[in-house]
Amino acid sequence: MENMREIDEIKAKIDETVKDIKTSATLREIKMKFLGKTGEISALMKKLKEIPPEERPAMGKVINALREWAEKRFDEFEEAVKAAELGARYEREKIDVTLPGKQRKKGAYHPDTLIIDELVSVFSGMGFEIFEGPEIENDYYNFTALNTPKDHPARDMQDTFYLGADYLLRTQTSAGQIRVMENKKPPIKILSPGKVYRFDDDATHSPMFSQMEGLVVDKGITLCDLKGMLDEFARKVFGDGIKTRLRPSYFPFTEPSVEVDVSCFECGGKGCKLCKGTGWIEVLGAGMVNRAVLQNCGIDPDEYTGFAFGMGIERIAMLKYGINNMKLLFDGDVRFLKQFRV
Ligand code: PHE
Repeated sequence: MENMREIDEIKAKIDETVKDIKTSATLREIKMKFLGKTGEISALMKKLKEIPPEERPAMGKVINALREWAEKRFDEFEEAVKAAELGARYEREKIDVTLPGKQRKKGAYHPDTLIIDELVSVFSGMGFEIFEGPEIENDYYNFTALNTPKDHPARDMQDTFYLGADYLLRTQTSAGQIRVMENKKPPIKILSPGKVYRFDDDATHSPMFSQMEGLVVDKGITLCDLKGMLDEFARKVFGDGIKTRLRPSYFPFTEPSVEVDVSCFECGGKGCKLCKGTGWIEVLGAGMVNRAVLQNCGIDPDEYTGFAFGMGIERIAMLKYGINNMKLLFDGDVRFLKQFRV
């Protein structure tokens, strides 16, 4: 009967402790205390040896029943504890999906970048590859090889930042023409965007600005090819129905040289403020690559001909986006720049 009392005590103890258990970790510990190898119930089993043999089977049954009861009790409790723990975790990790999200400020591309990207896409559609030359240039590439030797009056067309006798900040992306032609035999079809520098700073000039150069050299290239390509460029960039016209001009590295106008996309050519009543807007300089330039690059001008063009990115951006003050493109004012989100 001593044993029966102990059994009741154990049951009561289990009921008592189990009530206060909050975590499955403590539950596991307590469970071991009763049901583990050295636990209280196993101890009872060991004590069986001490009672008279004829009572052992009955007592063994009682202890086994206690073990089963305890296991069930702990299992039930484990479920309850786990459910409570999960509930607490859900509570802790609760997210209010109705709260407004954190505002992220969106960046915007600079108008120059937008124009460069557009031109690259238009011209790569026509088979042009991209070449980027250095901004610190050799006098030779920027001028001499472009048929503009020292003391040539055409050097005055571009006020230059010289960096000593031989080096300068390139005044034109045309310098890249030479670098390409020196290294590649025709057919050549490259597009070269980049920053250029001129010693000039007023309302319509900035000491640094961007250009886009194009160069095509192959057998049988003519001015008609240039005109055809420019028409395509004008339609793609300024809109269907836009025409181009060529006016005679002068650059030392092209012969003949032309200034290229597009028909005014604002008034359709009737004449307005944008085109200053002329119906035409100047967009770039171009021409047939001068024979002397081809020769300087080891290309036989009797076998190959080519055309080149160069345009000011800021000018195209101002025309296309209706920007009336070039300085806005260099000030970095976020209120201006954020208007160019695409
Ligand atoms: N490099 C010339 C300029 O900066 C533009 C140009 C490029 C003209 C290619 C003809 C051919 O004014």
